[in-house]
Amino acid sequence: MLEGSGRWADLESARRAAFRALPPPIRAYLDSGAEREATLAANRAAFDRWGLFPSVAERPDATPSLRRRLLGIDLALPLVFGPAGMLGLIGNGGDLAAARACTDAGALFMLSTASNHSIESLARRAAAGPCLFQLSLPRDRALALRLIDRARDAGFAGLCVTVDNPVHGDRPAERRHGLRMPPSPWLVAKMAVARPRWAWRMARQRPRLANFAGEGLSMEQVVDQIVSPVGWDDLAWLRDRWIGPLAVKGLLRPDDIGRAAALGYQSVFLSNQGGRHFDSGIAPLDMLPDAIAHARGRLEIVVDGGFRSGTDIIKAIALGATACSTVRPFCYGLAAAGEEGVRHVFALFRSEMLRTLHFMGCRSLDDLGPGKLRRLP
Ligand SMILES: Cc1cc2nc3c(=O)[nH]c(=O)nc-3n(C[C@H](O)[C@H](O)[C@H](O)COP(=O)(O)O)c2cc1C
Repeated sequence: MLEGSGRWADLESARRAAFRALPPPIRAYLDSGAEREATLAANRAAFDRWGLFPSVAERPDATPSLRRRLLGIDLALPLVFGPAGMLGLIGNGGDLAAARACTDAGALFMLSTASNHSIESLARRAAAGPCLFQLSLPRDRALALRLIDRARDAGFAGLCVTVDNPVHGDRPAERRHGLRMPPSPWLVAKMAVARPRWAWRMARQRPRLANFAGEGLSMEQVVDQIVSPVGWDDLAWLRDRWIGPLAVKGLLRPDDIGRAAALGYQSVFLSNQGGRHFDSGIAPLDMLPDAIAHARGRLEIVVDGGFRSGTDIIKAIALGATACSTVRPFCYGLAAAGEEGVRHVFALFRSEMLRTLHFMGCRSLDDLGPGKLRRLP
């Protein structure tokens, strides 16, 4: 009844396969963290502080349900493929491949503002199901409005604004490898022997920031637009301009959760962007119990940062999260085997979640709760 993922024994095998496919500078883009990488490590360590109880009394005889409803969207898996800029650098098919595998798995795909496929091409060619658009709010509000209108016209099911990227983060591993965006023709040529498939893809089509193609801006100018501080007045401005499900990504303070609810946001993504920008940051999972208490049922809490297994997801749902979000695991699949690789990573998460629910005697995610786990000393 409980299938495995087939291709890789576990996520670590997928990660190793991804690393064999990617040039070192792109590995650094995908996998490294800010400064001393303390936030990156904290995100993972948070999961080890919780242990799950097995159950001897209850034994579900059918396959447990993994269904959830997020932002009014019914999902077969409680998972969001979070926004990731420049997915074209990572694997064949980029955003399109990622979105197809994700929606087919019954999870929710979120297209980044810094995507390599445009809002329109994703809506036209990828989705068998609803997708979200992630907005990095441009300083130029006319440009912001154009993006919002395009996402609405293309039929995106919801908008999620990222608020935790006021300035550029520093990832020393990228600097050590001299990574520039987009990678220089020199780097592509240098990788022709060691990473021929990657170099061939880059030579055929250099990834660009597709949502800004008609704006007459260089990549540096776009980045200057979208790496910007976002305040509560901006969040109110945005709420008045998007009719439909609205989420904010990058809050961690409990009082901010209440403020987002009061403004009328439906979901908060507890996130530190996977430790890519701000070092010595607090892990989202560590803030989850407080966030749930402050949400008081007024909004949905999604957690992201460090999810690497089905048991990680079960822990967050037991603590009260509506759903979980991650990027790097799916990117390992994308880098190693394109769309098929992303499907395999979803299958891994799914089989691990099902097995864990069986051990815990749960028939669905709704049977989970704080009584099903304990904080370890
Ligand atoms: C390569 C890469 C690019 C990302 N780009 C964006 C982005 O454009 N916008 C955004 O809000 N978050 C971005 N993120 C952060 C993710 O959405 C998410 O918060 C983070 O990856 C979670 O950590 P995990 O993937 O280690 O679980 C990016 C992450 C990665 C790894």
